[in-house]
Amino acid sequence: MPSDLPAPSDPPGSSVPTDLCCPICAAPLRASERAFACDAGHSFDRARQGYVNLLRPTRLRGDSAEMLRARRRVLDAGWYAPLAEALAQQVGAWLAADGAALPLASRALLDLGCGEGYYLRHLSESLGEPLAAQGWRLYGLDLAKDAIRMAAGLAAGHAPPAQAIPTTWVVASARARLPFADTGVGALLNIFAPRAAEEFARVVAPGGLLLVVTPLAEHLAEARAALPWLLSPQPDKDERLRATLESAFALEEARPVSFTLALDAAALADLARMTPHRDAEPAALEAAACAATERAPDGRLSVRAACLVRRYRRRA
Ligand SMILES: C[S@@+](CC[C@H](N)C(=O)[O-])C[C@H]1O[C@@H](n2cnc3c(N)ncnc32)[C@H](O)[C@@H]1O
Ligand SMILES: [Zn+2]
Repeated sequence: MPSDLPAPSDPPGSSVPTDLCCPICAAPLRASERAFACDAGHSFDRARQGYVNLLRPTRLRGDSAEMLRARRRVLDAGWYAPLAEALAQQVGAWLAADGAALPLASRALLDLGCGEGYYLRHLSESLGEPLAAQGWRLYGLDLAKDAIRMAAGLAAGHAPPAQAIPTTWVVASARARLPFADTGVGALLNIFAPRAAEEFARVVAPGGLLLVVTPLAEHLAEARAALPWLLSPQPDKDERLRATLESAFALEEARPVSFTLALDAAALADLARMTPHRDAEPAALEAAACAATERAPDGRLSVRAACLVRRYRRRA
């Protein structure tokens, strides 16, 4: 079920199946060079850069372009590479043990709330071979159109990422019906992003993988002490969400992952911009970031990132 563009040798107007479903009638979507369309005639333009917008009208807003640009600078600098590697290691081990047991139709890997695409790019690059050998297709989904445009390689100054395997970027909401069939997703990643337990249970195939990354209470504490605009991580106390999730998914491991960021003033200000924060005058934020790093040895503030990676298996 490739989600690649039709090949140049295909007749004009031809289309290929995808793992996506129509957000209006839930029928499967086929991809042609210009659009994704269902048999009922609902059609969604395929942006020139290769992403598709399946978002239905909503008042919800994703991250702003400013937050996304700041996040990309922090991620591109490699500060979150230990988390990307921990996730790749978990997905790699799961693929080797269980990936091939899933039916081919379920071998879609979805990063839900993918932001500007860092973790999915990392997976594609580090696990390209096993993913391709098992016929996996990758999907990155986010509410913010700017995030998906950036992920698809649109942002000024960023070349499209080299992808080893087909990757489709989708604008849609985790707070609505996900544009995937029942059991159509074999692996779902949810990294510092909204969760939707019922939809996770509907789309993830029995035996499928769910990786959920949430911040621990001490996440970025030194940055919060220096920059009072930063909000504390929300304790993970949505019991109903957890109960729904755990009725459908067996928790197999909860692994803390922590690492240190040594941030200069510019990177500290970017960390603040990419993290949930109260409104701050840009000049005040930059001045506070300068003051905090000037006090630090070698001009860099040590900030500890601390998160929990929960690995679940979809019950049969
Ligand atoms: C803290 S960011 C994390 C992004 C990415 N996973 C990362 O760690 O770099 C949360 C992301 O969730 C997205 N988001 C917020 N509400 C959403 C929703 N209802 N559906 C899908 N994505 C949403 C935001 O646009 C943002 O990109
Ligand atoms: Zn339709």
